[in-house]
Amino acid sequence: MGNLQVRLFVTYLVIIGVTLGLAALSLFLLLGGYRDSISYGNLEDVGALIDRQANYEIQNAVQKGDATLTGQDLLLILVNSLRGPGSSSVLPVTSVAVVDRSGRILRAAGPERLEDIVVRDFKAPSATADGERVPQRCRLSVPGGNELLCVSIPLSGAVLEKFPGSEAAALIVARPAASLGEVVGDLMPRLLFSGLIGVAAALVLGFLLSQSVAAPLRNIARAARNVARGNYRQRVPATGPSEVRDLAANFNRMTEEVQRSQQTLRDFLANISHELKTPLTSIRGFSEAMLDGTIDDPGGIERSARVINDESNRVLRLVEGLLDLSRIESGQLPMRQEEFDLQELMEHVGEVFALRSEETGVRLEIRPGSKAIIRGDFDRLEQVLNNLLDNAFRHTPPGGRVRVATRHVQEGLVQVTVTDTGKGIAAADVPHLFERFYRASNGSGAKGYGLGLAITREIVRAHGGDIWATSEPGRGTAFVFTLPAAGRRVPGLAGVPAR
Ligand SMILES: Nc1ncnc2c1ncn2[C@@H]1O[C@H](COP(=O)(O)OP(=O)(O)OP(=O)(O)O)[C@@H](O)[C@H]1O
Ligand SMILES: [Mg+2]
Repeated sequence: MGNLQVRLFVTYLVIIGVTLGLAALSLFLLLGGYRDSISYGNLEDVGALIDRQANYEIQNAVQKGDATLTGQDLLLILVNSLRGPGSSSVLPVTSVAVVDRSGRILRAAGPERLEDIVVRDFKAPSATADGERVPQRCRLSVPGGNELLCVSIPLSGAVLEKFPGSEAAALIVARPAASLGEVVGDLMPRLLFSGLIGVAAALVLGFLLSQSVAAPLRNIARAARNVARGNYRQRVPATGPSEVRDLAANFNRMTEEVQRSQQTLRDFLANISHELKTPLTSIRGFSEAMLDGTIDDPGGIERSARVINDESNRVLRLVEGLLDLSRIESGQLPMRQEEFDLQELMEHVGEVFALRSEETGVRLEIRPGSKAIIRGDFDRLEQVLNNLLDNAFRHTPPGGRVRVATRHVQEGLVQVTVTDTGKGIAAADVPHLFERFYRASNGSGAKGYGLGLAITREIVRAHGGDIWATSEPGRGTAFVFTLPAAGRRVPGLAGVPAR
């Protein structure tokens, strides 16, 4: 029973079985009454036949001109007519009788002995209602025997007049009421037959329906096993009921995501190896040259030592960048929460880049705007501005301008913009700028690792802000980031005491 398909299948069968059982039960209960009404209908027909025959006999007797007809004679005529040829066909199961006005049976013919039994629910025919001799439904119980259904047909007033002193008031036709057992016995074969057809249909439908749910689930399970074995190309067709289709679609999305992150990891490792290879190759080349005496003059040794120093700094910078990135991403690099004015940070950065501005011939404009108190980590936000300004100076030719400005964009949100008049970034590169190791195709990023903006974005996000870039190739670039002003709660900003 652990198997879903078997469970579904059995469930369908149980449902069909219970439904059929309930249908049969209610049919039996309903059909008991139905059989009664059919029996009454038949009795009414038989009654009409016997009534016609009796009338015919009475007419005959009257026409013979016998003026001395008595009540007893009527009874005799009636009883003879009841035993007549018209009744014989119905007599094996049907009893016929004559009753008096109180419903007591005077004479009877048929399989049951009914004399002197009083009919229940008997309505004595009214003397006035001569025209409408309506058959009435009644019942009678044979002592120690069956319960009978009966129909009474009143004798007409005209007949009774001709037989003064007659006790006879109505004819009775009676037949045993169908018992539940009989109804069941009668219906059982048909019900069993229709039940069998139902069960056969349920078997086929149940199999198809359970298959339609179980088959896609089996596909997903098989695909999941393959993914677990490292085959990330697995996709499953979205078929079956909507929930299963939804599951398949989500499974496909998940495997795509796993595949993508596996690819990112591979690219990442390839990038790191590539970035490390160049400086390490130089370091090894120069150190070997010094060791084996290829470089032995003091000038050469000094140059080699400088290259080794520069290159190892470069490797160190890469490692530090990667460490920063992974620590921020995994939440292991807590951001301090200290309140300070952004103006303070801008002035500080202005001083740091003043020399760079002089050296490169690029004008630096710092526009702090109004006082903007924010809560965050001063050093990390300085790192953000350093990265953005370093990029801006690197990509702006002499005579250009780099500007840093802040403003309140809305209640509780401060926006910082770093614009330059440099060569700009191609539109195709802009969406990828914040990815690790991404360097735009503007040819001037060769010196960097493409990690600065990735780190920058992580720091800004850790402060509850956002960052984006807009650029116009040939005219310049703008990097914009937002920070929540102090007083606004920043989810996820680690609580480290201020310095
Ligand atoms: N102001 C800018 N003008 C033009 N191109 C830019 C500018 N800022 C960034 N870029 C482009 O975006 C790329 C990614 O920048 P990012 O700071 O992430 O890396 P990097 O500066 O190359 O290296 P790193 O910052 O790790 O030393 C750069 O290589 C450069 O091509
Ligand atoms: Mg950079």
